Amino acid sequence: MNPCIVSPSLLSSDFARLAEELQALEQAGVPWVHWDVMDGMFVPNITLGPPVIKAARPKCSLFFDVHLMIEDPGRYIESFAAAGADLICVHAEACLHLERVVSQIAEAGCQTAVALNPATPLEQIDYLLPQLDMVLIMSVNPGFGGQSFIPFSLDKIRGLRHRLDSRRLGTRIQVDGGVTTANAAEIVTAGADTLVSGSAFFKHPSYQEGLAAFMARMQG
Ligand code: DX5
Ligand code: ZN
Repeated sequence: MNPCIVSPSLLSSDFARLAEELQALEQAGVPWVHWDVMDGMFVPNITLGPPVIKAARPKCSLFFDVHLMIEDPGRYIESFAAAGADLICVHAEACLHLERVVSQIAEAGCQTAVALNPATPLEQIDYLLPQLDMVLIMSVNPGFGGQSFIPFSLDKIRGLRHRLDSRRLGTRIQVDGGVTTANAAEIVTAGADTLVSGSAFFKHPSYQEGLAAFMARMQG
């Protein structure tokens, strides 16, 4: 399994002070930040696009983990790569030709990832696993922060861990939605190595404390 990573979701940060937030996260020792891009079509909420990521890129050296919750994301891969994404994650449900979009991400020089909504079975990505740097198991229906973790996600994480290990693949397993310090340990025990946290992470008085609290649970 890969080393455990926490990727705080900027959706719960203060967008009015984005540059300062990024610098504070970097100083706290956070490795990744998770950008939630929503288009008001694939999900019932609208957030941000390539210009915001581009403006943020020179402000820090954090790894930019970009979660696209948008319809037909193949239209925008090059724009997000040019804006400074390090990894681009697209939803299987949003792509008619998923293999083509994953290849597009790799060709744009970014790490590749596919997200699955809670009701989408793992079988959808069986053939693609060797091409993926990460799979994102959504543990809430995407669109909003602060929702509760859907319990059957744990079975799905275990199923994906089994598939990856039996094929000797080093693909990361990311989990996003309702992740807290109370359930982080069981999510990692189930096989995840990359946890996204929005509301639970940002409620800590300092980001050092938030990171330490998650890492303590993740490393058992
Ligand atoms: C939800 C987003 C998440 C969200 C997580 O659609 O993809 O990244 O910010 O927020 P919490 O951790 O509060 O569930
Ligand atoms: Zn997300």
